[in-house]
Amino acid sequence: DLAASVWPRRAGLAQRAPLLRAARGEPTDVTPVWFMRQAGRALPEYRALRAGVPMLDSCQDAALITEITLQPVRRFGTDAAIFFSDIVVPLVAIGVGVDIVAGTGPVVAEPVRDAAGLAPLRPLTPDDVPYIHDAIRLLLAELGDTPLIGFAGAPFTLASYLVEGGPSKTHAKTKQLMYSDPALWHALLDRLAEITIGFLRVQVDAGIDALQLFDSWAGALDEADYRRYVAPHSAKVLAAFEGSGVPRIHFGVNTGELLTAMGEAGADVVGVDWRVGLDEAARRVGPGRAVQGNLDPTAVFAPPDVLAEKVRDVLLRGSKAEGHIFNLGHGVLPETDPGVLAHVVDLVHGG
Ligand code: CP3
Repeated sequence: DLAASVWPRRAGLAQRAPLLRAARGEPTDVTPVWFMRQAGRALPEYRALRAGVPMLDSCQDAALITEITLQPVRRFGTDAAIFFSDIVVPLVAIGVGVDIVAGTGPVVAEPVRDAAGLAPLRPLTPDDVPYIHDAIRLLLAELGDTPLIGFAGAPFTLASYLVEGGPSKTHAKTKQLMYSDPALWHALLDRLAEITIGFLRVQVDAGIDALQLFDSWAGALDEADYRRYVAPHSAKVLAAFEGSGVPRIHFGVNTGELLTAMGEAGADVVGVDWRVGLDEAARRVGPGRAVQGNLDPTAVFAPPDVLAEKVRDVLLRGSKAEGHIFNLGHGVLPETDPGVLAHVVDLVHGG
């Protein structure tokens, strides 16, 4: 196994990097912290670089990916970089008609509604995404001891965009397909699992230090439906990287009732939104798994004393878990003052 023999690319990093130690439940000098969407519209340097460049173009340019990924690490001193890309990039790479519309999100030209809709969903090969490998090699040369987190969208969250045709609050069309044609549903999720494995395989082979599987919208499901219609496909993705050495983080929003199942799907670290305290979340994910989270992303708009109290509360509850990686409960909101995020990093590091 190539990945197992070379991970991590930087000798001794697994012992030195707080994020990689916390992911294994080992003690750390400081609680590691990074922010979902730390590279993005909250940063003026990001907006300057992205001016006039469509989102998906920026995701296919190794030099731009590298610079955007490094921006928040330089500014905040976070304990990880997250690779700049998007969950729809592998779909774009195999030729699916999908665009990212500013202020809306992914929009799919021909939504999947029947068996014919599966035809474009072929496996992804490394040649489909040369810029991913190139950008990761550039990043590893720059990052020193800061781990690089790669990521992909989980089959359910990708399926939701493909079936709905765009963002959805209720995921009604997705669930309608799931309930009315389970065979087609499982065939769709199986293809998406294969694409996701291919996309993550490129990242793991290029040298990422950890991976996060984003099942952002899984919280739309009750636990029984999650276990029946979704978990086996996410488990297949996570199992593909078992024993690679690369820690696997599994995250969704509004997944308080799914935390046990999301851990059991094969995560080393379960990401938690702000609705469930990390002490309770740790109880739900059980022994042998770390937790990540879970400051409310709107806490950055609170007065300094309220923010500091909320950060302390997250740290206290997180200390009850077998490993805690500090993060927001979901992505950085575009209106966030970067200075406040820098302050949160200092608070987490004990400043
Ligand atoms: O976290 C990071 O800093 C890495 C970059 C990253 C992006 N998308 C860049 C992006 C990551 C990890 C993602 C994942 C992603 N994309 C998810 C899962 C995470 C989550 O937020 O739950 C989802 C659901 C998507 C789909 C998507 N792409 C949405 C909902 C949007 C926002 C639409 C909008 O304009 O509000 C996008 C676009 C997108 N992806 C942006 C960024 C920085 C904003 C586009 C821009 O800057 O013009």
